[in-house]
Amino acid sequence: MIHSSNIRTLRTHIQQWKQQGKSIALVPTMGNLHKGHLALVDRAHQLADITVATVFVNPAQFDNPDDLNAYPRTLDSDARQLQERDCDLLFAPDTQVMYGDKPSPTRVEAGAISTQLEGESRPGHFSGVATIVSKLFNLTTPDMAIFGEKDYQQLLVIRQLVEDLNYDIQIIGHPTVREADGLAMSSRNGYLTTEERLAAPMLYSTLQWLKQQLRQGNNNHSELLTQAKNRLAEHGFKPDYIEIRRQKDLQHPNNNDQKLIILASAWLGKARLIDNLAFQTGDLD
Ligand code: PAF
Repeated sequence: MIHSSNIRTLRTHIQQWKQQGKSIALVPTMGNLHKGHLALVDRAHQLADITVATVFVNPAQFDNPDDLNAYPRTLDSDARQLQERDCDLLFAPDTQVMYGDKPSPTRVEAGAISTQLEGESRPGHFSGVATIVSKLFNLTTPDMAIFGEKDYQQLLVIRQLVEDLNYDIQIIGHPTVREADGLAMSSRNGYLTTEERLAAPMLYSTLQWLKQQLRQGNNNHSELLTQAKNRLAEHGFKPDYIEIRRQKDLQHPNNNDQKLIILASAWLGKARLIDNLAFQTGDLD
């Protein structure tokens, strides 16, 4: 595996692969890799000749400096795991390489889908994501890029970015990888105490409970969401939002919408956990 932290080396390798007619899949990450990230790398491997992974803790997408400082940085172990997964190139630049020291560098403004849910709780977050993802697309010019569905709103923001800015890149969403007890894998799970870790799967089981209620024809969304928040609060969570939306655009559903998604974010101790559950109202499982 080639391990590069500078743009010139990255571009040289990308150019060589392009000249050889190889297809390139990009897996952007902020590091502290877990099985969820590695599943993205495996998917990239299946789909393209070359897998490029990036590790960069992007300051532009953090609305809280304490959160940015606390974010786990584990580059050596990340590089080892990527090497074991036969990743072809790891690009792990520092902030100076990505942003220089300009006081106010150009930013990409994310589209309409970014203003609610995560966007409302974390002002500027999706503009930071859209900016770094655009930069990584420009630097690596991949044929495709793989993102986890755990960050469902991010995935839609990136799909809109690609459409609106005319990137010729296929965006692939990969299903959330879960622990045996249902907790979605996340770098932020490391912030949980032993006791909180035991309570954490309640987030996903609350989403499953909600889905079951909706499937049984209980259509009183506001009552269901209040009950869901109460369930979470009883287990020590401080819910941020929990919402039932349409999968395609995250708007409130009407009676004819069948493809729905429940999205939630809740604090458990120092960890802000997010999760979602997509389903079709007619499905039987
Ligand atoms: O999902 C993430 O880890 C980040 O938001 C991403 C896409 C790597 C951009 O920094």
